[in-house]
Amino acid sequence: MPYLLIDSRGEDVVLFDPGSIPDFPVVMRKVIDVIPPETISLVVVSHQDPDVCGNLAVLEDVIDRDDLKIAAHLNTVRLIEHLGLRSEFYAVDQHDYRYTLKSGRELEFIYLPFLHSPGAIATFDAKTNTLVSGDLFGAISDDESLFVPESFPRNMDSFHQAYMPANSVLRHAMERLSKYDIKRILPQHGSIIEDDDVQECRYLVKDFGTSQSPKSTRQRDSRYCPDRPALITTPSRTLQQSCSCATPS
Ligand SMILES: [Fe+2]
Repeated sequence: MPYLLIDSRGEDVVLFDPGSIPDFPVVMRKVIDVIPPETISLVVVSHQDPDVCGNLAVLEDVIDRDDLKIAAHLNTVRLIEHLGLRSEFYAVDQHDYRYTLKSGRELEFIYLPFLHSPGAIATFDAKTNTLVSGDLFGAISDDESLFVPESFPRNMDSFHQAYMPANSVLRHAMERLSKYDIKRILPQHGSIIEDDDVQECRYLVKDFGTSQSPKSTRQRDSRYCPDRPALITTPSRTLQQSCSCATPS
């Protein structure tokens, strides 16, 4: 799910994780409903996956600005430059992980190595206490609610089991994020997380990806299964689900 930041009545417009080629018509129609595409001055790419930025080449043709910048970690730039893009890359790690908009508003990029790519970043906007998190805090669900549904811990667990490498890496990231006053998380997959749910997600995610965690449904020899039986207990809820899938022996 791409996000748009319109700063200072359109003086700067930032598009986060613009999406895939199949998604492009819908994304662009929604962008055009809000702003003219040529007002987009910066595209932030959290990592190189095709569902995140496969449409970049088409997008920059529609934006059609010589001064358009694409911000990403250098580990991501090395890969997306093969998409044949013409815009200037803004390697965030070569700019102190910051980008200042014309209004003086500052976007801070947080390096999240291997969550789930070597160049993964999140973006923190201190003005709105918002974290645009890329795949971190993502979820797999048929529920397309804009804001997290009641079942979100289970949906997040499935996603992190499938795409995140290890509990230790997640814990390190949660420790880094604890320094930020985050009131809203905008993940690339799933739904928007706000208010009390932000704290609950941090509590959950740091233990996802391990078979040892009482909060995770993962088993050491298990494969990904969206319907795996879940028993997730958080400070405010317990979720249980049955499943008919066989667990490999
Ligand atoms: Fe991804």
